Amino acid sequence: MAQILVLDDVQEAVDAVRRVLEKRGYEVVGFTDEDAAIDHVNNHPVDLAILDIKLKKMDGVQVLGKLKQIQPSIKVIMLTGYPTHATVEEAMRLGASAYCMKPIDRSEIESKVAEVLAQETRIELVGWPDKAEVNTQDILFRSLTNGVYIVTVQGEGEINGVTTPWVSQLSYDPPMVMVAISPLRKCHEMITNSGQFAVNVLGSGQVDLASRFGLTTGREMDKFEGVVPERTPAGNPLLSNVVAYIDCELVKTVAVGDHSLFVGEVIGAEVLDLTLSPLTFDPSDYFWEIRP
Ligand SMILES: Cc1cc2nc3c(=O)[nH]c(=O)nc-3n(C[C@H](O)[C@H](O)[C@H](O)COP(=O)(O)O)c2cc1C
Repeated sequence: MAQILVLDDVQEAVDAVRRVLEKRGYEVVGFTDEDAAIDHVNNHPVDLAILDIKLKKMDGVQVLGKLKQIQPSIKVIMLTGYPTHATVEEAMRLGASAYCMKPIDRSEIESKVAEVLAQETRIELVGWPDKAEVNTQDILFRSLTNGVYIVTVQGEGEINGVTTPWVSQLSYDPPMVMVAISPLRKCHEMITNSGQFAVNVLGSGQVDLASRFGLTTGREMDKFEGVVPERTPAGNPLLSNVVAYIDCELVKTVAVGDHSLFVGEVIGAEVLDLTLSPLTFDPSDYFWEIRP
């Protein structure tokens, strides 16, 4: 059954919506605080968020933008007492599916929730630069959908990991994957020497971990400092709270432009948390000012 989050600054309003939806069999979590609601979406899959426009610290449209960044497929219904054209337009631009007028009408909310949940998910691309300024790299970054992965490796007496969204399955039988790593990375040399690596699949809410492994180099710091990571069966470092890992044996390296394609045959894989949804790559989470 669908997981629904309700955010309204008034507890009675949260309870009113919750009562209506729980009677319909939905699982509902309610919040009056924006940060707690955002934190929940960071750590749990949510199908639909019902957001009041008037909140305590932010407005509902700002929360909508943040939730879509964390879980791009989340559906959103806005609640508003006084819809202004500008607010509704902005909410729809950021990916709201519908809005409901307050005070809540029971049959309106029931039918809108059912309708929105039945809609096919359309992932909206938010935050494009102005059209005249869109360059090829913007298009590649923003219209090709990727997850975010940390490729870990055991070197001689040291371990390391590199963030990359450029991971893909290549072959079904035998199962093979590719990762694209620049020869400039320390991990490039370590993977070449060790002949194996593990792909750690990050979950939504692990942007900070991706930044740590992607914006610092193992040449200057130990990215695992203070942490003794678990190991995959092949002996590669395993990060905590990831969705899954894929152990690979390096079978081929192909130079491609300014990167190398490491082709790995999958020698083991395990899903570790079935409740986590994989993190989707959004360049603005890391380095949007950098425009090649
Ligand atoms: C979001 C993000 C995506 C990245 N994608 C790649 C990539 O696909 N290939 C790559 O070689 N480096 C990529 N990088 C850069 C490396 O992760 C980064 O240079 C890292 O510091 C390399 O670490 P190392 O020198 O310890 O191997 C990415 C960084 C970030 C933040």
